[in-house]
Amino acid sequence: MKTVISTSQGIRIGTADEPTPAPGEALVAVRAFSVNRGELALLRSRTSNWRPGQDVAGVVLEAAADGSGPAPGTRVTALVEEAGWAERVAVPTDRLAELPERVGTEQGAALPLAGLTALRSLRLGGNLLGRRVLITGASGGVGRFQVELAAAAGALVTAAASRGQGLRALGAQDVVPDPEAATGLFDLVVESVGGTSLASALRRTAPGATIVLLGTSSGEKTPIDVYDFIGHEGARIVSYLSYAHPRPPADDLRTLTEMVAADRLHPMLGLVEDWTKLNDALAALRGRRIDGKAVLTL
Ligand SMILES: NC(=O)c1ccc[n+]([C@@H]2O[C@H](COP(=O)([O-])OP(=O)(O)OC[C@H]3O[C@@H](n4cnc5c(N)ncnc54)[C@H](OP(=O)(O)O)[C@@H]3O)[C@@H](O)[C@H]2O)c1
Repeated sequence: MKTVISTSQGIRIGTADEPTPAPGEALVAVRAFSVNRGELALLRSRTSNWRPGQDVAGVVLEAAADGSGPAPGTRVTALVEEAGWAERVAVPTDRLAELPERVGTEQGAALPLAGLTALRSLRLGGNLLGRRVLITGASGGVGRFQVELAAAAGALVTAAASRGQGLRALGAQDVVPDPEAATGLFDLVVESVGGTSLASALRRTAPGATIVLLGTSSGEKTPIDVYDFIGHEGARIVSYLSYAHPRPPADDLRTLTEMVAADRLHPMLGLVEDWTKLNDALAALRGRRIDGKAVLTL
């Protein structure tokens, strides 16, 4: 079968053996996949015929042999560890969710890592009803989902992004170019840019607030010390790393698909192209030219 392969010469579509599913895995024919910023770094570092790809959507070809998961013919979305950018992939059934009829396959492919990260990072802030939430990197894949989910949870959302189009429509009350421009203090900050963005965000936290650190899109380090917490006493920094989440993706993935089906969550597909255009899509993501998610179709 055809698959994306990462080599020292870059990425290309090559061939690999068909997957052999374990008893708890379904065989899925991939129809679409999406790319995540974290994968840009992985592609640079894993170049010895590595097979990338975490977010996939497609159709179950063979149900899991242990009887778990959906029947053949079911459309699904899934978060796999790797090797998802391929014609077929074996997926543990606790890492997939059925796609409701109203949810397109491309929309489904946009959901897994970004949607789960948004949902689970916001939960670290507790009950968001009436809380002031600052979201950085808000125009990106994770950020757009965070804005809409936080607003749905009753938060008063300030979105920080240099490309802020459409964020008010997702529920942001205020859109600022960076956290420095935000007004007031926040009960929750979800921070994915790092460097000056994180340093500014820290100055916007209310005493006792939570700052969830989930990314460093800028690649910048942030020197901070205890005196940065004067005026923000008791604020706590919590890390979010998706691979360490204690629960498998299936249940939260189902929540996300149902919200899309109910018109309560709207994946923004900033780019949809055939997977032969993957290199162009990766360049656009690297260059910050994608609003929301980049999806490749097979
Ligand atoms: N911890 C985890 O488990 C986890 C899971 C998923 C993602 N992440 C991380 O979360 C971050 C967001 O991921 P994503 O897939 O949503 O990425 P994305 O779609 O590329 O979004 C990143 C956003 O950050 C903003 N940004 C500001 N300064 C930037 C800079 N110097 N370089 C690049 N972007 C910059 C951009 O918005 P503007 O251009 O509008 O300012 C961009 O829309 C990444 O750092 C990623 O590694 C972490």
